[in-house]
Amino acid sequence: MKELLNILKNQQRSVVVVGSANVDMVAKVPRMPKEGESLRGDSLSVVFGGKGANQAVALARLGAKVRFIACVGKDQYGKAMKQNFKNEGIPTHTIKEAVDSLSGTALIFVDKTGKNSIVVIPGANHDLKPKDVIQQKGIFKKGDVFLTQLELLSETVEASIILAKEAGLITIVDAGPPRKISKYIFPYIDIISPNETETEFLVGKKPETKKDCQVCAEKLMKMGARAVVLKLGARGCFYSDGEKKFFINGYKINTVDTTAAGDAFTAGLALAWGRTSIEEALQFANAVGALACTRFGAQPSMPTLSEVSTFLKQI
Ligand code: RIB
Repeated sequence: MKELLNILKNQQRSVVVVGSANVDMVAKVPRMPKEGESLRGDSLSVVFGGKGANQAVALARLGAKVRFIACVGKDQYGKAMKQNFKNEGIPTHTIKEAVDSLSGTALIFVDKTGKNSIVVIPGANHDLKPKDVIQQKGIFKKGDVFLTQLELLSETVEASIILAKEAGLITIVDAGPPRKISKYIFPYIDIISPNETETEFLVGKKPETKKDCQVCAEKLMKMGARAVVLKLGARGCFYSDGEKKFFINGYKINTVDTTAAGDAFTAGLALAWGRTSIEEALQFANAVGALACTRFGAQPSMPTLSEVSTFLKQI
């Protein structure tokens, strides 16, 4: 792990992220409301979120050179999001501003145990079209790794994956939120990383036991993905590329809020993949995801490389 942390500190990785940017309206609640129930919440916070933006910000904090292609509204939240990207060291010339749509918004409940439930209104995220990504083709040539999720229009996600693969980048797809992926796109995916819900959505089976995880991963590889990383929450993750298959246990932490833990994990994976061993890359990703659970909010919870290094040296 020492060698990996040294490489991550000294050899900057260039990552192209295509994805969503949202403003998260987060209500802390004593428990999830029941249907038809009017429940009193504990607090309301407005934080930066969106799966794409969370991963872009996590990567920037971990030291990567990030190019983020996204779309925000021409409203106060769009302006605030762009300023936030600048503050995080992410250039904003690749961020489109939608003419009519409002910025993407997520309504989130977080209960006392840190579990969440999320409703996303895509807004401007759905104004990012394939042609907008194709216009930014030049930046793909300078990247090492490409990372996307499924929160944009599927045609935009698909065009991005093809562009990235053709430009020779390692393509990583975070399969959240649960959406269909065309069978023509799977062969362009080097690593697909769904969580438990997304795995069940994609292959029709819950990754509960060791055997289930193997079956789910095999199904995803049969669809065409080269390798599979199943995110299993507190249990850790499961990796398979057909030859190698193994679990990496999660770390024990005090969970405050699990929102964006998966985004943190995938960002960690994109940074550490292909540097030393697969096992270490997954341990690093687990650590980034675990640390994100110890703090409230999506982007506010993303750790820096030095925080992850300290955590990994302590355990
Ligand atoms: O993965 C967490 C994210 O999902 C939140 O930040 C929210 O915006 C939704 O996109």
